[in-house]
Amino acid sequence: MTSPLPVVRSTLALRQQVAAWRAAGLSIGFVPTMGALHEGHLSLVCAAKERCQRVVASLFVNPRQFAPHEDFERYPRDEAGDSALLASAGCDLLYAPERAAMYPDGFATNVIVADVSAPLEGEFRPHFFGGVATVVTKLLMQALPDTAFFGEKDYQQLLVIKRLARDLDIPVEIVGCPTIREADGLAMSSRNAYLSADERRIAARLNMVLHDAIKAMRAGAAAEAAEREAESHLIAAGFSGVDYVAVRDAATLGPLRDLNTPARILAAAWLGKTRLIDNIAL
Ligand code: PAF
Repeated sequence: MTSPLPVVRSTLALRQQVAAWRAAGLSIGFVPTMGALHEGHLSLVCAAKERCQRVVASLFVNPRQFAPHEDFERYPRDEAGDSALLASAGCDLLYAPERAAMYPDGFATNVIVADVSAPLEGEFRPHFFGGVATVVTKLLMQALPDTAFFGEKDYQQLLVIKRLARDLDIPVEIVGCPTIREADGLAMSSRNAYLSADERRIAARLNMVLHDAIKAMRAGAAAEAAEREAESHLIAAGFSGVDYVAVRDAATLGPLRDLNTPARILAAAWLGKTRLIDNIAL
C-alpha cells in the first residue's frame, strides 16, 4: 500500500517545501487540477515524474471559471480518493488551498489573455478563460515549479496558459500532454461522470466525427463543408446541441489560411446537460 500523500493548504507551506527541494538541487514538476481525477490527470503526473525529481499536484475547484448557471456546485469532489490516486501515481505533495486563501476578501485582479482566448470556448463560455488564467497565474506563482503539465484535451486552455506564462515572464516551462481516451475514443474528462448510460454510448461519436471530418478534408472537402457535415452527424448521433466544430490554425486558433500550417479540429457539443469538448491534430 502506498503511504498517504502529504497535503499543504497554505502558500507558505507549499513554498517552504518547494524551496527545500530546490535547495537540495531537485527539480519540481507541477500538475494543477480541479480534482475528480482520472487516467488523464495521472498521465500528467507520470509525465511530470519523467522530467522532474519532485511532483506537486494542486486540487482546487476554481469558482471563477464557472458561470453562475454552470456546474460549480455539482462538480464532483473527493479529496481522499484523489489523494490516494495521486499517491499511487508517485506524486510527492498535494496542494489543496481553501477558497478563502485563494480569493481573500478584496481580491481584485483578473488575468485576461487576449486573442487566443477569444474564439471557440471564449465565445461560448466568456467568463471561462479569465477564471482559468487568473487561477493558473496564482498557482504558478505560488508553487514556482520548473515545469507545469496540462492536457491537450483542453487545447485552447493550453495555448492560453502558454501565452500567459510567456507574456508575464513566469519562469516555468509549460508542457502539453496527449489526451487520454477510453477504449471507444471518448476523451477522459471529469464531466463524463455526468453522462447516463445512453449518453455515454453516444459520447464516443464526438471523437469519431472529428476523425471523419479529417478524412473528408484529406479527400478534398473544404474545411467549412467538413465542419457543417460533422455538426449534422453529431445531431444525427443524438447530441442535443453543437456549440462548434472548427478547423483552426493550431498555434493561434485563428482561421486556417494555409493547409500546410499545423491545424487542429476542435469541437464542443451537448448531451443533455453535459457539455463535452474534444480536439485532434489534422
Ligand atoms: O483543466 C483544469 O482542470 C483547470 O482548468 C485548471 C487548469 C486546473 C485551472 O483551474
